[in-house]
Amino acid sequence: KIIPVIMAGGKGTRLWPLSRSTAPKQFMDLMGKKTLFQRTLERVGNEELYEAPIILTNAEFRFLVAEQARLIDRPLAKILLEPVARNTAPALAVAALIVARDFGEDAIMQVLASDHEIVENEVYFGSVARARDAAAKGRLVTFGITPTEPATGYGYIEKGEELGGGAFTVKRFIEKPDQEKAERLIAEGGYLWNSGMFMLPVGLFLQELRQLAPDVMDAATQAVSASKDDLDFVRLDEDAFSKAPDISIDYAIFEKTPMAAVVPSPIEWSDLGSWDSVWKLGAQDDDGNVADGRTTLLDTRNSLVLSKDIHVAVQGLSDIAVIASEDAVYVGRMEDSQNVGKLVKFLASKK
Ligand code: GDD
Ligand code: MG
Repeated sequence: KIIPVIMAGGKGTRLWPLSRSTAPKQFMDLMGKKTLFQRTLERVGNEELYEAPIILTNAEFRFLVAEQARLIDRPLAKILLEPVARNTAPALAVAALIVARDFGEDAIMQVLASDHEIVENEVYFGSVARARDAAAKGRLVTFGITPTEPATGYGYIEKGEELGGGAFTVKRFIEKPDQEKAERLIAEGGYLWNSGMFMLPVGLFLQELRQLAPDVMDAATQAVSASKDDLDFVRLDEDAFSKAPDISIDYAIFEKTPMAAVVPSPIEWSDLGSWDSVWKLGAQDDDGNVADGRTTLLDTRNSLVLSKDIHVAVQGLSDIAVIASEDAVYVGRMEDSQNVGKLVKFLASKK
């Protein structure tokens, strides 16, 4: 069976002010009834295919994780608690060490982000099966998505030779190119987006981490050996984990490893990472607007307007995002969606 490892420790700053440092986007119900984290748990709910999931999160979010899983009746195997945020590479190194210890080096883990919207149909599960087969043959597998625009928020994968079974080698992996480069890659063709979901044979993954990210591996190894179990929680040692560099798995491993493979996956997928993606995925009316909550729109087009509490009225504007939370309102151009994180940093610097 596949061991699901769910990354749920991000801050989701690009979705400010709805996503807050105390309750980031994966734990909020953007427009549906369940949160993105809960829907990720349901995605790995098939007990014939999956073991109970391991959750990777920040110690701050432990109650959110436990409570949200309980509310939808999903048992969790373990909740690994990071004492400080060090991005996804150290977190995944820790998960791999624990999976190897509990299930052996031949185990295969599926890494899932908790901020994705995915339509779970035959196409999706077909891709999962192909990725598992490629991983079993000794590859670090990513799921490749056909790009629709020169987005700068994703990793780009240049597909290489066919490996059989719907998998290809990875010629090049470019994490988050700038606008100019993204446009060049799209014009060139032959690139796929990295979905941010991975299928990894644990032994090989650990071997690549040791080789390509020894600092990450040392810190993770010590953080696990000095960790403390507390019911389902595993508290990683703070001194050790703090020594890990702050780096994502994409930069630490996938840009460098020769062992990567990609399974092109025509799945219906979206990273709900920024306001433009929420708008694209939302139910647009005839004017191209997505509005939710207490809102009134007049002569307004192609905009996203969300407000739960206060009444928000927008007149005569287009291509903007207006997002009201209990105590803050954001107004920005849709095309600046990737830059909201910058605003949040700026706000924090003024405190
Ligand atoms: N446990 C833990 N700890 N999880 C984290 C941390 C951390 O320090 N930082 C981020 N995460 C979680 C987020 O909550 C999210 O579910 C996932 O890891 C990915 O992090 P993001 O911050 O959302 O990454 P991204 O969207 O900018 O980029 C990644 O995903 C893209 C597709 O969605 C990369 O893998 C790109 O290459 C990819 O295209
Ligand atoms: Mg993301």
